[in-house]
Amino acid sequence: MSINVIIIDQGPVRLIRMNRPDKKNALTSGMYDGMAQAIESASGDSPIRCIVIAGVPGAFSAGNDLGDFMKAATGGEGLGNSVLRFLYSLARAERPLVAAVQGVAVGIGTTMMLHCDYAVAASDARFSTPFVALGLVPEAASSLLAPRLMGHRRAFELLVMGKPLSGEEAKACGLVNQVAPADQVEAEAMKAAQAIAALPLEGVAISRRLMKGAPDEIVKRIDDEAEQFKLRLKSPEARKAFEAFLSRKK
Ligand code: COA
Repeated sequence: MSINVIIIDQGPVRLIRMNRPDKKNALTSGMYDGMAQAIESASGDSPIRCIVIAGVPGAFSAGNDLGDFMKAATGGEGLGNSVLRFLYSLARAERPLVAAVQGVAVGIGTTMMLHCDYAVAASDARFSTPFVALGLVPEAASSLLAPRLMGHRRAFELLVMGKPLSGEEAKACGLVNQVAPADQVEAEAMKAAQAIAALPLEGVAISRRLMKGAPDEIVKRIDDEAEQFKLRLKSPEARKAFEAFLSRKK
């Protein structure tokens, strides 16, 4: 288990906290595995009925660690098994997922929202998916789920043009349910999670399945995107973008 992921069970609610504040919660393979394990194990007869995913003040997540992307660009093997495991765990989660977003939510920090059942954003939240500017393509089935949620044009603005969304804008396009002051985001998310956890377990599970449909279509899109992503990671434009970030002067 990564030391950068903290799992706390509070009765029927499991809190998964991404906790790498010095790197704005950029996600490493250890963190993906830790989060996937926490989601996968909340299944079957587990007493966990709802999961909250949170970050730290100022950072939900800066997305995939760009150093790891650079390694993949220079010989590694694409998105990597831990990322895929985490994405599958989101798509196949048996328990409802709630997000509590403060500060930056980049790349997968934003596309994760598309798998959540309820999301609270802080007024300082900033959602962005600079995939194309980085020489990459969308992931996490966002190319399927974002247009479905907000329509093609708004999804294009987000996923292709990379235009960031504030908390209020994210609410307006349905990416999150509510906006709260930064210091209350987690409490609001926990309140929603406790309300979900208090509902009949089977009723929630069946309703959710009916609403989301079988995960196969989403899993297939994750795979199709990963195929393209793998090729893009090795493109000269991606390498140039990673180098620019990793060698930037502050
Ligand atoms: N991968 C690796 N390290 C990252 C990172 C990432 N995705 N995002 C941030 N960091 C690191 C920075 O390099 C810096 O480390 P250092 O202090 O050792 O130099 C530290 O986290 C703090 O980041 P900083 O850029 O100083 O914070 P900021 O508040 O000015 O900006 C971001 C925050 C998230 C806007 C900015 O860091 C950024 O754009 N990160 C890249 C996001 C990205 O492209 N993710 C991939 C999406 S597919």
